[in-house]
Amino acid sequence: MNVSDFEFISDLLKKRSGLALTKEKAYLMESRLNPVARKWSFAGFDELVKAIRAGSNEELLVDVTEAMTTNESFFFRDQKPFDQFRDLVLPHMLEHRAGAKTIRIWSAACSSGQEPYTLAMLLKENSAKLAGWRIEIIATDLSKEILTKAEAGLYSQFEVQRGLPISLLVKYFKQVGERWQISEEIRHMVKFKSFNLLGSPAALGKFDIVFCRNVLIYFDPPTKGQVLAGMADLMPNDGFLYLGGAETVLGTTDRFQLMQGQRGVYQLSTSAMAANPVKAVG
Ligand SMILES: C[S@@+](CC[C@H](N)C(=O)[O-])C[C@H]1O[C@@H](n2cnc3c(N)ncnc32)[C@H](O)[C@@H]1O
Repeated sequence: MNVSDFEFISDLLKKRSGLALTKEKAYLMESRLNPVARKWSFAGFDELVKAIRAGSNEELLVDVTEAMTTNESFFFRDQKPFDQFRDLVLPHMLEHRAGAKTIRIWSAACSSGQEPYTLAMLLKENSAKLAGWRIEIIATDLSKEILTKAEAGLYSQFEVQRGLPISLLVKYFKQVGERWQISEEIRHMVKFKSFNLLGSPAALGKFDIVFCRNVLIYFDPPTKGQVLAGMADLMPNDGFLYLGGAETVLGTTDRFQLMQGQRGVYQLSTSAMAANPVKAVG
């Protein structure tokens, strides 16, 4: 791969998905795009780039963009955020939304669905407290291919062995051939939609809780700042934002601040809550 091709594809990816690739990741570009080249019957990576430079069709550009996304995800990823959700965020919402009895949650880069389905299972486990409530989980991703997998809710043995307690596997999944499918009841709790985080999220509506985990890590600071500002605009003063374990708002936006003593959970900086944070239950 020559430098010019690397820079050309990097620019394209940055514009289409926000992915910021450094030169050390050139090997990744080639290894992920070679299968796309084969699928489109190009002799190899160089031919693929030549076709894109010549003015290629949208379908090929979608394939190239999606091939470069990292879709790694698992149930109850990092565990702690979901404990916080159950013990701190949910009790807060139950108290402060008691009038409207509505909570809207956005899983903003949901990949193959483990994150929104984890939330759906947690809510189902707490359904006694939520009788009469309307809880919406909107799960979005850039990749249409991964959304198809998410909607099907079918997981390999390996995927259900990562993070999912056996009791929940038994309760909410059924075996389909060699795979496991999450129950229709849980699937119906999640609405999947295609959405690019580089776009304006206003059309998705307002959200009380946003999970935007393990995606901003691939963006540069200005792009992260822009995505986070868009999310801040969609949240009420007492909203909650979850980021991944390796992610931070530091140096990207001052719209959010870390919740005191709670790793990975953020609140709006302007909120009275930030000065007077919610206390964990238990
Ligand atoms: C590593 S996964 C994270 C999944 C889940 N949030 C978690 O923490 O397990 C990152 C996801 O972000 C998606 N993604 C990457 N760029 C995106 C963009 N610009 N807009 C929306 N989704 C994007 C990818 O398709 C991928 O499914």
